[in-house]
Amino acid sequence: MPDPVVHTHDVCIIGGGLAGLRAALACSTAGLDTAVISKVHPLRSHSVAAQGGINAALGNAEGAEHDDWEAHAFDTVKGSDYLADQDAVARLCRDAPAAVIELEHMGTVFSRRDDGRIAQRPFGGAGVPRTCYAADRTGHNLLHTLYEQVTARGTRVYEEYFVTSLVRNGGRCTGCTAIAIPSGELHGFSAPAVLLATGGFGRIFSRSTNALINTGDGGALALRAGVPLKDMEFVQFHPTSLFGTNILITEGARGEGAILKNRGGERFMERYAPASVDLAPRDVVARAIETEISAGRGFPGGFVHLDLTHLGAEKIMERLPGIRQIAMDFAGVDPILEPVPVQPAQHYSMGGIDVDIDGSTRLPGLYAAGECACVSVHGANRLGGNSLLETVVFGRLVANTMIADLPSLPPPDGALVREAVRAEKSRIDAILARNGDERAPAILRDMKAAMFEHFGIFRDETTMREGLAAITALQERCRRASVGNKGTVFNQALHRLLELEGMLLLAEAVARGAMFRKESRGSHTRTDFPDRNDTEFLVHTLASLDDGKMAITQSPVTLGMFEPRERVY
Ligand code: FUM
Repeated sequence: MPDPVVHTHDVCIIGGGLAGLRAALACSTAGLDTAVISKVHPLRSHSVAAQGGINAALGNAEGAEHDDWEAHAFDTVKGSDYLADQDAVARLCRDAPAAVIELEHMGTVFSRRDDGRIAQRPFGGAGVPRTCYAADRTGHNLLHTLYEQVTARGTRVYEEYFVTSLVRNGGRCTGCTAIAIPSGELHGFSAPAVLLATGGFGRIFSRSTNALINTGDGGALALRAGVPLKDMEFVQFHPTSLFGTNILITEGARGEGAILKNRGGERFMERYAPASVDLAPRDVVARAIETEISAGRGFPGGFVHLDLTHLGAEKIMERLPGIRQIAMDFAGVDPILEPVPVQPAQHYSMGGIDVDIDGSTRLPGLYAAGECACVSVHGANRLGGNSLLETVVFGRLVANTMIADLPSLPPPDGALVREAVRAEKSRIDAILARNGDERAPAILRDMKAAMFEHFGIFRDETTMREGLAAITALQERCRRASVGNKGTVFNQALHRLLELEGMLLLAEAVARGAMFRKESRGSHTRTDFPDRNDTEFLVHTLASLDDGKMAITQSPVTLGMFEPRERVY
């Protein structure tokens, strides 16, 4: 093998979505030689698909004049079923108004009130309208804003590079290896600080609102490098995905007044959440829809109706044009005229790479932010509008951590990275040399089905035990899997197999965490343990790999502002 190409930077950021770009912006602005490595063009990152908005206690809406960060923090902690770390939540909510105003000043085209201030809509679990939005294309607007800012500062962006491993020098992270997708060449990246900002892992489930790229690569890289994953059992199911394709139909629709109805035309949320009704938090609404469908009160095929017809054409066209188009294009339904068929689908991962409040992992030189990380600000259930907020608040904060740490981190070590590239090349060549009938797409399909069936909205010991056995069998199949395409250029078959290896690890972490947690809390609903159990389980779970074997341990939750109480909506 000729001498591998090694790129050297001060900071390597893996992932070009909102968290990665916000961190890149801060690092570049501070004068650091900053690289963003992404398996897609940054503007194709899944952040672009976020619809409904970003939370901040601006107090712009009527009746919300007295909103403040403490009220935002209370809603977030209650929404999390008291599992969120309250010091991290305080940071998130305190920094939120400045973060949103900063985005406004950078050029984000937020929707406005008549008086010119940023408009705010109600969202689930929030005491007052607190969600700032750009119609129903908020993520799109934010991502374009940040991409512009990052490119204007000359940040180096490596597009279409698939990261295959983190490089460790004893007890620290010093870079990564990545396949240049167009050529198939393996490159090394050498940097004293490496940030994982790779997004969620929703595609391990068969029904998901996530993009195909959401394969959880960062979590698998961290786990293999010895960093635990935290609270992986907490998987959010969004109540309203479009029946058939599971494309997101924003909670903003209910924020604007849309109503969920069962087959009998009943506004069933009145029975499940008398005070909040359709705007209860997502775990509550998803469970209610699933219960209606199981009780035979859904429509054939398994969906309920989201009725927007009473909102009128003008409001729908102004505030929800994107979801109207999606409903027309993918379900043949115009929400101005007819209800939209919806069902719950996996949407977000509350769990992720274990980081402290500054975004550091326990491996010096390795950091994480955004959905791939678990700080934890969402606990057992995230409130809508808090994920975009987390990306920009913690993207900036983790950049500050890296900037502060850099002087004490050892300089890049190109020779070590070169050696790691050679080792990785041998591993990938061995995969390419395999033959046989077992292929990644079939294993992927079976994994997604197993995860949805055994680790979906409702869980119990027997179903989960069967599910874990299914995942273990799929891991065995994956070890034998081969690719038909032995070439180098855009070898998608190889990349899918490499992603799948990591996805199966994450699936196992979800399974083991869910089996460990013998209670119901937030999105984790066990029919065999229907109550929350603060005595035994007001703890975070940590999934670690030791010699290839996964183990679950626990760590304390940071309380301090709000005492755990019964969660009623
Ligand atoms: O429903 C939505 O627009 C999703 C928002 C979110 O996940 O925060």
